[in-house]
Amino acid sequence: MDLQIKGKTALLAGGSAGMGRATAERLAEAGAELYISARREERLRNAAREISEKYGVPVTPVVADSSTEEGRKALFAACPNPDILTITIKPPNPNGDFLKVTPEMWRDSVETALIGPIEIMRNYIPVMKDKGWGRIVNIATFSAKNPMIWRLMSGPARSALINYTASVSREIARYGVNINNLLPGMFRTEGFEEAMGYYADAFGLENKQEVVMEHFQDNNRIPAGFIADADDLAPMAAMLCSPLSRFIVGQNIVIDGGQHASLF
Ligand SMILES: NC(=O)c1ccc[n+]([C@@H]2O[C@H](COP(=O)([O-])OP(=O)(O)OC[C@H]3O[C@@H](n4cnc5c(N)ncnc54)[C@H](OP(=O)(O)O)[C@@H]3O)[C@@H](O)[C@H]2O)c1
Repeated sequence: MDLQIKGKTALLAGGSAGMGRATAERLAEAGAELYISARREERLRNAAREISEKYGVPVTPVVADSSTEEGRKALFAACPNPDILTITIKPPNPNGDFLKVTPEMWRDSVETALIGPIEIMRNYIPVMKDKGWGRIVNIATFSAKNPMIWRLMSGPARSALINYTASVSREIARYGVNINNLLPGMFRTEGFEEAMGYYADAFGLENKQEVVMEHFQDNNRIPAGFIADADDLAPMAAMLCSPLSRFIVGQNIVIDGGQHASLF
């Protein structure tokens, strides 16, 4: 399938690992010029070099924390004019006992998982409107629709994010600018491995990985029968970043192997 994005500029805010990086690879494969950002410099530079060498397109690394104003300024300066924007921001770690969640933890969650993406979109929407074309994809979480007691620092702020994009996407679709969100379930990424460690600590589990995985298999059955790879999301992300998605507006697409049973 020709994604029709050869020569377009794509900014992957959060693109050095996991689902952001897998999406970057699909866009590079289709001939887009990339800017990829992240906080950790070494992994970012390696990813940019590897993607560029593999697909023969320019890939510019931008060290920037999307959850801070300073980081976002660096992002906007490095890539002022993208056609395509994907946003991945890691929310605070799993919380443990909900009664111990403090106002400071909530502020951190909202600053990161809600205000960060909103501010990035608010900067680029006028740019895309002026061009008469643009695509924005947030890689958020299925806990935006499927609340989980240990993901209070991720789900509620992302529920607000998808509420925001439901409104804004309908305001800007007539300019050829579409926003859609992907809501991933369980994906075995670098970020997933880190989160599992924190989850085990938060709930006092020993023998981290094994106990955590058993817990998930017992309590959160995945009908598809496996935990996904980042490449199980990237093709859908790439399609949403392309002209092929021109009639898909303000949607929240759950990619979770059927784990979350819901009609809508
Ligand atoms: N994996 C899962 O099972 C799962 C499940 C549900 C939801 N999610 C959500 O899906 C998204 C992607 O997850 P993933 O597993 O692919 O994560 P990942 O493997 O940790 O990759 C995240 C990417 O985004 C970058 N990033 C994170 N926070 C950033 C920030 N504040 N500023 C700039 N770059 C940032 C990371 O680089 P740096 O760390 O160097 O900044 C990395 O490049 C996350 O929002 C996650 O909460 C994941």
